[in-house]
Amino acid sequence: MAKYKIAWMPGDGIGQEVMEAARIVLDKLQLDAEYLPADIGWEFWRTEGEALPQRTIDLLNEVDCGLFGAITSKPKQEAENELIPELQGTGLTYRSPIVRLRQKLQLYYNLRPCKAYQGNPLNYREDIDLVVFRENAEGLYSGVEFHPVEDDLREMMKKYAPALGNFDDVAGDDMAMTVRVVTMRGADRIIRRAFEYAQKHGYPTVTLVEKPNVLRETSGMMVRVAREIQKEFPSIELWETNIDAQMMWMLKNPENYGVMVTGNLFGDILSDLSAQLVGGLGFASSGNIGDELAVFEPTHGSAPKYAGKYIVNPHAMLLTTKMMLDWLGETEKAIALENSIAGVIKEGKVKTYDMGGKSSTLDVANAVAERL
Ligand code: NAI
Ligand code: MG
Repeated sequence: MAKYKIAWMPGDGIGQEVMEAARIVLDKLQLDAEYLPADIGWEFWRTEGEALPQRTIDLLNEVDCGLFGAITSKPKQEAENELIPELQGTGLTYRSPIVRLRQKLQLYYNLRPCKAYQGNPLNYREDIDLVVFRENAEGLYSGVEFHPVEDDLREMMKKYAPALGNFDDVAGDDMAMTVRVVTMRGADRIIRRAFEYAQKHGYPTVTLVEKPNVLRETSGMMVRVAREIQKEFPSIELWETNIDAQMMWMLKNPENYGVMVTGNLFGDILSDLSAQLVGGLGFASSGNIGDELAVFEPTHGSAPKYAGKYIVNPHAMLLTTKMMLDWLGETEKAIALENSIAGVIKEGKVKTYDMGGKSSTLDVANAVAERL
């Protein structure tokens, strides 16, 4: 029996191509793993009305981790129009399988390392080495939303939040609400993981990026929790910044920052900016991590216009694969893979269109594999 069971989820479009690239390096590394194909994506929505079938969730509950390519999502009406005739008009609504996966399997944080590899022509600045810890299961993406806002709900909420009275002249139909939920449990575990990571990897600071001056309750809770946790990590400094100012500082001196931790929406924004500083979607890897399970994915989508052409950059997927190896405890293989990726980037001979080259997705994967 293989040492690891890995759910293999290529998904849609270029997801399939970059997963082929991942397999080339994993095979070269001779990882002792069984790769179990798992269904996810647009095809399953169309034909079954479910982009994340229950059998995939069941499988994920049995494996050590999952590796995922990308999926296609479309707006509500378009999604419904593409259902097979038998399923049309049955009241099915499309939901993002990724968001559901994170919630259902309690993959409560999203880890996004962004490192400027030497020689990458797309680096905004050299010496950038950022790691974003984004809360993944609550915050503004917790799915607690209202539209219309019914009268009884309004009256009840107004008792506790008088500011709602400012909207008394607005009809319930004309109002929508999304609730930002932060829990002590959620705040504690994401901030704790960030400090642990900083300690393990030698980062001197953890920056909490929030907005406590305005979001007094939710960001306020994050700040209180961070200050408490910092006491357990006396060698690591806690920096507290506001999300808006942080955006400016990231462009001014990104090399000042290392580990950053924040809620779901801010983390979404901060991690995309961080990724762009080191080359953009072709380099952005991520892990959705829980206590027992993790699903790793590049942050790009299915890029339909490039699907089937084998021209997109697989480095994001290969760096994602490196994260997975790290998480499995296969440190030597993870280091070897990262060094090979860095070597190929530095040499600058084999590169995809986004880096100004003409190599194919699999050329890059093979060049990385050759160095292993
Ligand atoms: P996208 O990430 O698929 O592609 C946007 C553009 O970025 C591409 O057209 C291409 O120019 C570039 N790009 C992306 N990956 C690249 C790579 N590896 N190498 C070089 N260039 C790359 O985002 P888009 O076009 O907004 O969405 C396409 C579909 O993907 C949609 O259906 C969307 O819902 C879905 N999506 C899925 C995600 C996921 O699976 N986690 C994340 C983002 C979008
Ligand atoms: Mg995003």
